[in-house]
Amino acid sequence: MTTAIVGVGNIGSAVARHLVAGGETVVLAAKSPAGAEQLADRLGPLAHAASVEDAITEADTVVFAVWLDTMRELLPQVSSRLAGKVVIDPSNPIAFDEQGRMVRSLPAAQSAGSVVAALLPADAHYAKAFGTLAAEALAANANRTPQRAALFYAGDDERAADAVERLIRTAGFDPVRAGGLADAGRIEAPGGDLHQAGFDGEVVTADQARAAVDARR
Ligand SMILES: NC(=O)c1ccc[n+]([C@@H]2O[C@H](COP(=O)([O-])OP(=O)(O)OC[C@H]3O[C@@H](n4cnc5c(N)ncnc54)[C@H](OP(=O)(O)O)[C@@H]3O)[C@@H](O)[C@H]2O)c1
Repeated sequence: MTTAIVGVGNIGSAVARHLVAGGETVVLAAKSPAGAEQLADRLGPLAHAASVEDAITEADTVVFAVWLDTMRELLPQVSSRLAGKVVIDPSNPIAFDEQGRMVRSLPAAQSAGSVVAALLPADAHYAKAFGTLAAEALAANANRTPQRAALFYAGDDERAADAVERLIRTAGFDPVRAGGLADAGRIEAPGGDLHQAGFDGEVVTADQARAAVDARR
């Protein structure tokens, strides 16, 4: 199995490093080829770099570790290549204002997940995942002992759910389903009750995560 990671910034590089540590083959792509190539060199033989188009074509699953505004531009360009693929989306409804400050970019009731899912071809398999922790916490908490940290995911598609559970485990975390696509906003920031910020920054275990899914619904 090969997983493409498009975007190798804070989130993409942490996901790539954890997946390679767990034995997954990854193909990395970014806007500028140099960043993807440098990361692939650092990660060793299970990683290589490619163009965005070639990375998607090679992979069974594509993680789009890019900002939501980038996703809105990029997904229509690569849509035909996503047919039949599992697409994993860690995005938040965040953009930057003219002063460079982070602002919520969607109405409170609309999730980034709903926007991304609507941009995909009908036969793509969508899940929201890998965005429920701040990047530093994601980078630092793989294979935590004595109890693994949980990563929430959300989506309606069972093939995507199987793929994302496998990848979350491979990355060194326990997967916990927050619900379907209608629940994607619960694991996004700002405002999601199951995002790390909703636990006052704590990185929770799977038992804590499952209890919160039910108790707060
Ligand atoms: N940072 C966090 O703590 C955090 C936590 C949870 C979720 N998220 C979400 O994760 C996503 C990524 O955040 P981040 O902090 O990792 O962002 P980032 O560090 O700014 O990285 C963005 C990546 O996207 C790439 N990119 C930009 N335009 C592209 C294009 N047209 N084609 C391919 N790649 C492109 C960039 O490539 P170049 O470097 O070559 O420009 C860069 O590698 C966002 O949606 C964010 O909301 C972030």
